[in-house]
Amino acid sequence: MTAVPLDAFRAELETLRTAAATALSAAADAAALEAARVEFVGARSGRLKAIQKLLGGLAAADKPAGGKLFNDVKGEIAALLDAAQSRLAGGPAAESGGIDVTLPGEHFRLGHLHPLTQTIRRVQEIMGRLGFESVDGPEVEDQWHNFEALAIPAEHPARDPLDNFYLAVARGADPLLLRSQTSTVQIRVMENREPPLRIVSLGRVYRPDTADATHYPMFHQVEGLLIEPGTTMAHLKSVLRLFASSFLGGDVHVRFRPSFFPFTEPSVEVDMEWGGRWIEMGGAGMVDPAVLEAVGYDPDAVSGFAFGLGVERIAARRYGVADLRDFYRNDVRFLRQF
Ligand code: PHE
Repeated sequence: MTAVPLDAFRAELETLRTAAATALSAAADAAALEAARVEFVGARSGRLKAIQKLLGGLAAADKPAGGKLFNDVKGEIAALLDAAQSRLAGGPAAESGGIDVTLPGEHFRLGHLHPLTQTIRRVQEIMGRLGFESVDGPEVEDQWHNFEALAIPAEHPARDPLDNFYLAVARGADPLLLRSQTSTVQIRVMENREPPLRIVSLGRVYRPDTADATHYPMFHQVEGLLIEPGTTMAHLKSVLRLFASSFLGGDVHVRFRPSFFPFTEPSVEVDMEWGGRWIEMGGAGMVDPAVLEAVGYDPDAVSGFAFGLGVERIAARRYGVADLRDFYRNDVRFLRQF
């Protein structure tokens, strides 16, 4: 048996190497790559296998050199195969510099508005549709706007230092305080504008209450004021009922209970029934003539109504929150639900 010449063996390997390089770099998808893999390095009938058989036919002196040539080409083809595999697996990565734009992205949890802020905006939107303009007022107030213009005289218990947050820096004849109600904004608006008026003001108020499920030393109120000729308690009730039905959804009953506020006459407590439960939402009444006079209006010519509701209360009712302190704990497991 004549031995296979080393040159012929080398030529066979060279042909194989060129063919494999061409086929593997041309493979456009996994199926083409697999076909090329079977053709060149298939365990049973791959072309590399066929050449390996020739290795045995080399002259004994040529075997070491032939073996080395064979192993070189075998290694080269394996490397080409790897490269083709990662080129296909990488998809567009190869073209876009290593970033695979087809992979699912990282998810960022976007925050959202606090439930109380959502409530405030919703109240403003509903009242806006009823013609009430949204206005702001300061949280640090003077005696006139928080008390006197609202017909709360100096000896009134509501002005007790123990019931208010007076500012230490302003002790004196006219101590400043954190406003205890948003009714201050009624005064500020009426002082600066002529009737007719329809305004709503939402903001923080402060009272030194001990925090529990229904109290907190800081909370929010929504203040409404309407000054128009011929205004009656019926208008007040209609506006509150329209508001409550829009805010809570569905049928809401509004009930007035006789009450007293220095700045309204008559005065009522406002209860709302929704989902079979009554809940006290705030106070209301016809603006007292003394208040109209204090801001320079003629009480014989103008009249109107005012109301003040607790934002936390209506939010808690709508969302089914049992403890209003949850609104301030800033626990994302709670806030995430809104
Ligand atoms: N300001 C009152 C309070 O804080 C509520 C109220 C507002 C009552 C307007 C009547 C009219 O309790």
